[in-house]
Amino acid sequence: MKAKIVLLPGDGIGPEVVEEARQVLDLVGRRFHHEFDYSSHLIGGCSIDAKGTALPDETLAACKAADAVLLGAVGGPKWDDPQAKVRPEQGLLAIRKGLGLYANLRPVRTLAKLAHLSPLRAERVSGVDFIVIRELTGGLYFGQPKERRQTPEGEEAVDTLFYTEHEIRRIVRLAFQLARDRRKLVTSIDKANVLESSRLWRKVAMEVGKEFPDVKLEHQLVDSAAMRLITNAAGFDVIVTENMFGDILTDEAAVLGGSLGLLPSASLGEHKLGLYEPIHGSAPDIAGKGIANPAGTILSAAMLLRHSLGLGDEAAAVEAAVYGILESGRGTGDLGFKPAMSTTHFGTAVREALEG
Ligand code: IPM
Ligand code: MG
Repeated sequence: MKAKIVLLPGDGIGPEVVEEARQVLDLVGRRFHHEFDYSSHLIGGCSIDAKGTALPDETLAACKAADAVLLGAVGGPKWDDPQAKVRPEQGLLAIRKGLGLYANLRPVRTLAKLAHLSPLRAERVSGVDFIVIRELTGGLYFGQPKERRQTPEGEEAVDTLFYTEHEIRRIVRLAFQLARDRRKLVTSIDKANVLESSRLWRKVAMEVGKEFPDVKLEHQLVDSAAMRLITNAAGFDVIVTENMFGDILTDEAAVLGGSLGLLPSASLGEHKLGLYEPIHGSAPDIAGKGIANPAGTILSAAMLLRHSLGLGDEAAAVEAAVYGILESGRGTGDLGFKPAMSTTHFGTAVREALEG
């Protein structure tokens, strides 16, 4: 097949990890006879420096014309002034919204052989295999009003947790569809004891649940879900939740496996076009040192192959290569491996494994 892939390396370690993933995609293309055509565009802080905006129109246009987008990370101390009018993160939020990517899939798995990498005891993380479906274009991140105001008593600020029934229904429905191919359990996470938006969320989730009698639905409050992620995460199968809850819970979930650097994500909308990115940030402290973990980005490229290009076998081959290396006791320093592999080293090892 032929596919147009847009690369958005972004800031910090973004360019380093995206380059490794691009080379993996390249090899997949050669080995499985696909023609991938890449173009690279600006987003985030580097784009603010070059163009004065975190998401230039040409970047969004290129993404819209592509089959899939692979993103590194955005942000860094250089652009962190809270008073700044333009922020790198705006680029990420704008591209998610601009491409209509309302569903963020964040799979979390722990491998038995890697249980020692987790900060938790092995028995707490054994058998963890769930996916978080985070709503991505609504909720607290986008609700209006969202502003700072001057008042005679000083400044005040407001963010709004807003959801329509339609937005809730489509994300919850996707969770149920995914659960059908898994262990058939959906955990809908909300704060229905306090928030009106959560009470609507819960009502709609129950209605959608009736369309899927073969899938079990449970509800959990976000605070107790945060606790359960540490005490008994193996009990989760598919989690579906509001944008901000999902943001927080997925960073927490990420450490179950040992490092934020391992986790991939896919952001999907109504169409095949998806945006794929590791869930870690730009890690400015280690940028340019060649030590960043490219696994999360390479696994994101695998999700790209699966969800946007329909290449499930190729995706599985990439995943097997990545996990194979980790299971053989090799990996980057964030996972505590000694000697630590460099970014390029790890990428090369994945490609060697793929060559067979
Ligand atoms: C994430 C990140 C982003 C988010 C930031 C960088 C805007 O934390 O993808 O989880 O909050 O969505
Ligand atoms: Mg986050």
